[in-house]
Amino acid sequence: MNERVTTITMDIVESIRDVLRKHDVTFSEYRAGIMHLARTQGDGEIPLLVDVFFNSTIVEIENRARKGSKAAIQGPYFVPDVPHVNGELAIEASAKDLPKMVMRGKITDQDGKPVAGAVIDVWHSTPQGTYSGIEKHGDLDKKYYRGKISTDANGRYECKSILPVAYQIPNKGPTGMLLEEYMGGHSWRPAHIHYWVQADGKRDLISQAYFEGGEHIEDDCCNGGGTDFMVPEKYEGDVRVMEVDFVLDEAVASLEAAE
Ligand SMILES: [Fe+2]
Repeated sequence: MNERVTTITMDIVESIRDVLRKHDVTFSEYRAGIMHLARTQGDGEIPLLVDVFFNSTIVEIENRARKGSKAAIQGPYFVPDVPHVNGELAIEASAKDLPKMVMRGKITDQDGKPVAGAVIDVWHSTPQGTYSGIEKHGDLDKKYYRGKISTDANGRYECKSILPVAYQIPNKGPTGMLLEEYMGGHSWRPAHIHYWVQADGKRDLISQAYFEGGEHIEDDCCNGGGTDFMVPEKYEGDVRVMEVDFVLDEAVASLEAAE
């Protein structure tokens, strides 16, 4: 028996019972709810459904313990083992003329000291609002629109790419049906860049940066907008500048050792 599992499960059950009572839920509504969950399970969408509503809450809880930059949702499209890139992400030939951006910034520790040799995995959408290296998205070579970049001796990084776009999360199944058809909402996320920052002795940071003024910034279907990084609209020539500085926490293990 696991006491924490018991406690949390019973709190969930009690919360749901309260909702059923509050809304006088009928037996046929209850059955309809169960059937929708069964359909969601049958289509393999339970992780998607749960992430849509609760992933951002788990991040919020994690962030309570962070002193530096705050984390954001990781999303389902991270791909490990992508190549290191030197100053520019790979861009498909058909996308070479699309609007450009430059991602740059510096990484420091809690004392403001630069973190040299940090590795940042960055990934963002294709011009079609999909991700490379994802089978369901057509399996575009994973070298495109993602890569690892490193900070220099001053903790700085810089990398060019094209601008990502706003995109819809998978909306053809039961989760999309719930969000769009039943609840009258939508399944759009604002354009964003994903980051996973790793450095020796530092706590990993998974975050996202958003484009201030962009579509769906105010009504992200995944409630993922809670971020330190709403980057103001700034251009150098026709290149959008995405300046994002990260402040890393010490690794959790070393914090525990210090206690
Ligand atoms: Fe994303």
